[in-house]
Amino acid sequence: MSGRLLEVDELTVHHGQLCAVDHVSFAVDPGEVYAIIGANGAGKSTLLRAIVGVHPVTSGRIVLAGEDVTGIPARGRLSRGLALVPEGRRLFPSLSVEENLKVGTVRARPGPFDIARVYELFPWMLERRRQRAARLSGGEQQAVAIGRALVANPSVLLLDELSLGLAPVVVQRIYAILPELLASGVTVLLVEQDVSQALRVANRVHCLLEGRTTLEGSPAGLRRADIEAAYFGLRSSGGAGVPA
Ligand SMILES: Nc1ncnc2c1ncn2[C@@H]1O[C@H](COP(=O)(O)OP(=O)(O)OP(=O)(O)O)[C@@H](O)[C@H]1O
Ligand SMILES: [Mg+2]
Repeated sequence: MSGRLLEVDELTVHHGQLCAVDHVSFAVDPGEVYAIIGANGAGKSTLLRAIVGVHPVTSGRIVLAGEDVTGIPARGRLSRGLALVPEGRRLFPSLSVEENLKVGTVRARPGPFDIARVYELFPWMLERRRQRAARLSGGEQQAVAIGRALVANPSVLLLDELSLGLAPVVVQRIYAILPELLASGVTVLLVEQDVSQALRVANRVHCLLEGRTTLEGSPAGLRRADIEAAYFGLRSSGGAGVPA
């Protein structure tokens, strides 16, 4: 078995006729924060949803810790260690904070995270554990959504646009838990539209444009102009950038 924790190999995913992810390949090493960046509609969410098995794959492979999981249903992938925090949080609004967290324990693997540990990570949650999720702010809901994924004890935590609709200070507070997750042995695959945020937290970034890979590398090794070109579909050589 290779040292790779998650391998995505030539993955192609459709929405009907539309090819949303087009032969995308990458590999995530244990302990990494790997970021997928790209503009609206680039295929980021579709990619994450296909990896965890809630959207069907057209072709290609998803390999987790050496095991090909492409044909395994979502719940089997969750119990093998792939947990998604979906775009828009998707909590059960009428359930309490704690009931939402309990949902995440259904297919839980053994590991460091349980509901008590989530309350340690986010101390405010303990006091408000009986409150309905609908009454929480966007940032609080995001924290509960993260907690719900964590209690499954994922080896790879997939985060889809944590910062969506949140004030910068709230985004910083949420991203501040990343070091603790990594210290607990969780590897992170995240999607961000906010490139600066992705570059701040990731070891490697992978840019998608209309479903295709346009750039991959470590933040230190990439030039800002090349990232912008890859993100917006501009030629990086032309100075001001000409639509490709
Ligand atoms: N349920 C759906 N049915 C049909 N087409 C869809 C569906 N969801 C997404 N698409 C299309 O697939 C493409 C990729 O969408 P996706 O949501 O994966 O992009 P994204 O990079 O996550 O965008 P955003 O940054 O806006 O979240 C887009 O062209 C989008 O319109
Ligand atoms: Mg999306």
